[in-house]
Amino acid sequence: MATASAVLFANALPVLVDVDPETYCINPDLVEEAITPRTKAVIAVHMGGHPADLDRLKRITDRKKLAVIEDSSHAHASEWKGKRIGTFGVAGTFSFQSSKLMTAGEGGVIISNDEKFERQARSVHDCGRMPGEWFYSHFIYGSNYRLSEWQGAVLQAQLGRLDEQTKVRHRNARLLDRLLGKIPGITPQKLDDRCTRNGQYAYIFHVNKKEFAGIATDRFIAAMNAEGIPNQASYPPLHQLHMFRNGEYRKRLCGKQAKERHAFLKRRFPVTQRAAWETVWIPQPALLGDEEDVEEMAASLSKIQKHAKDLA
Ligand SMILES: Cc1ncc(COP(=O)(O)O)c(C=O)c1O
Repeated sequence: MATASAVLFANALPVLVDVDPETYCINPDLVEEAITPRTKAVIAVHMGGHPADLDRLKRITDRKKLAVIEDSSHAHASEWKGKRIGTFGVAGTFSFQSSKLMTAGEGGVIISNDEKFERQARSVHDCGRMPGEWFYSHFIYGSNYRLSEWQGAVLQAQLGRLDEQTKVRHRNARLLDRLLGKIPGITPQKLDDRCTRNGQYAYIFHVNKKEFAGIATDRFIAAMNAEGIPNQASYPPLHQLHMFRNGEYRKRLCGKQAKERHAFLKRRFPVTQRAAWETVWIPQPALLGDEEDVEEMAASLSKIQKHAKDLA
């Protein structure tokens, strides 16, 4: 919701497209189809830390002269072909909210190599001031989105540990890939060959209930809780949230756009449905343990499968 809200905050319409069935990141084929002369930018969320297909997205946006914004809120220190994510588009955004890979309780950062964009962003986050100008001159509409010095200090300490922790999470996640890959009906989020490092905000896997005596995802999650494996459910599909269903989002739009039909909101988004209701996420702190912890997680999931009939 945060990604779509950022677009609405700018009084623009977030046009949604379905995701890739293997990585759960934005599907570039559908991006291409959704572009119209009114499109300004493409925002890709690097889901669970796994980068969206930046090669294909860049090819499309370069051809169409559109900006790419990388929502890297799940993906601190992830890499695409050896290069840090957040550096491929005009801007990369990172969240420091409490569940994230680096946190100051709340807050976030935008990175950019585009000087014009950077000045504008600094101005929005500092009440419309411009870097280098008199403190009491205000050029555009902005607000106070400044991170405090105290939060900066907390984050700086975490930045020092980020590489080491990312290595542990990436390594444990690859072990989970191998172990969970052997359990019939469990399909881990695919690791694209070009993802050279996954920050792994979450370890995402799909559960085919047919292999688990037909039990629903919430039953599966209850069994994981009973086994003591930390987990969280996936996000619900955006287009089904009240704000989009009841038309409230239109209040952020202007002119013709506020009144016209937004046909994409009537779509079913089948891959998103599958990702939302049939995947389970193991959150990042649980990936900081050792090999034995990971083996225990896999053994517990096998146990759930073995007893699925009783659970059903
Ligand atoms: C993908 C994604 N984008 C953006 C955000 C928003 O970050 P923040 O809460 O720091 O605004 C979050 C989570 O909160 C997120 O998961």
